[in-house]
Amino acid sequence: MEMKIVDLETGKKKDKIIKTIEWGSKSATKENHEHFMIKEILEQPQAIKQAIMQDDAKLMKMAIGILRSRQVIITACGSSRYAALIGRYLFSKIGGKFCDVVMSSEFGYFADSIDKNTLVIAVSQSGETADVLDGLNQAKEKGAEIYSIVNVVDSTIARMSDEVLYLNCGPEIGVAATKSFLSQMIIFYILAFAMNNKIDYARKELTKVSDLIEKSLPYTMETTKKIAKLTKKQNDFFYIGRGINFAVASEGALKLKELSYIHAEGMPAGELKHGTIALIEDNTPVVAVNPNDNTYPETLSNAEETKSRGAVIIGIGDKESHVYDYFIKIEKVQDIFYPIMCVIPEQLLAYFLAVERGKNPDKPRNLAKSVTVK
Ligand code: M6R
Repeated sequence: MEMKIVDLETGKKKDKIIKTIEWGSKSATKENHEHFMIKEILEQPQAIKQAIMQDDAKLMKMAIGILRSRQVIITACGSSRYAALIGRYLFSKIGGKFCDVVMSSEFGYFADSIDKNTLVIAVSQSGETADVLDGLNQAKEKGAEIYSIVNVVDSTIARMSDEVLYLNCGPEIGVAATKSFLSQMIIFYILAFAMNNKIDYARKELTKVSDLIEKSLPYTMETTKKIAKLTKKQNDFFYIGRGINFAVASEGALKLKELSYIHAEGMPAGELKHGTIALIEDNTPVVAVNPNDNTYPETLSNAEETKSRGAVIIGIGDKESHVYDYFIKIEKVQDIFYPIMCVIPEQLLAYFLAVERGKNPDKPRNLAKSVTVK
């Protein structure tokens, strides 16, 4: 088929570069699923395998860029910002590089300290979020270098970046970020391991993680569905975790809020006692994101503090405890990969709670898939 693009006013032919986007029509249908959201959750094992398919030379170039920059700031909104917070831990733990995460709507207020020695990494599913674009424009004006982690090919953020890594997870139709969030995390893993010259190792381990998720999905669906039925009448949930699990807890709370309209807060478990614990009443659900890593004993003890004030504890992890009223077991993986395992039960719990409460998880009220206003 031949196509010609002409200028409407002059009628003259315009030369445009034609790019093929590799997204099939299958990904724009629900297939046999009730909602896009559940379809997209179930696509995640495959999304991991697609996200790790990055060009090694580009990964190394970007990893070196990150390591050499005087300061690195990651900027994003909503779920993408929580993925960025996870990335921040990974850069520090695996790559030995400290960086900061600034939410894009606040980015401009830090613009004074941005200069040509700053590297700004934008994270965005749509690549069109106005707050992110605004921050990047300001950073560009100050001479900063821009990298981005984006899903939509050739989106505005992708085009204005010096380097881009695409998520490769296909279109995400549900308003809630699920497979895009997970894919953003995977990109952070692979970039962090690239800083350590261990790309192949990362690919091998992430493939194993993907297989474990695939295996555990039927159990996780069944368990979260049961817990959703038992907790659907509650109006406040708290999500706690320490270290990297705090960012995972925050994402769980956001998913629940936007889909089921239940009030939810995610916070570092150690912070509860500084105020929020006053809100715990009989039957308040507290979700402890608590895999068996070095944060396990302390998070458990914080969960127990809420239990003694009446909370119902939902533990997510690979080690059971008498503290938990409900337990969502994840598969054992290396500590560093726990966030990937823990986020799936959170997504499913939010999904089933929305469905139990009669809400459409694909179209939460007041929300848009791409937020193009400031
Ligand atoms: O397209 P972006 O990743 O830039 O979007 C950022 C947020 O608007 C987005 O993650 C939002 O928080 C989602 N609804 C979360 O599920």
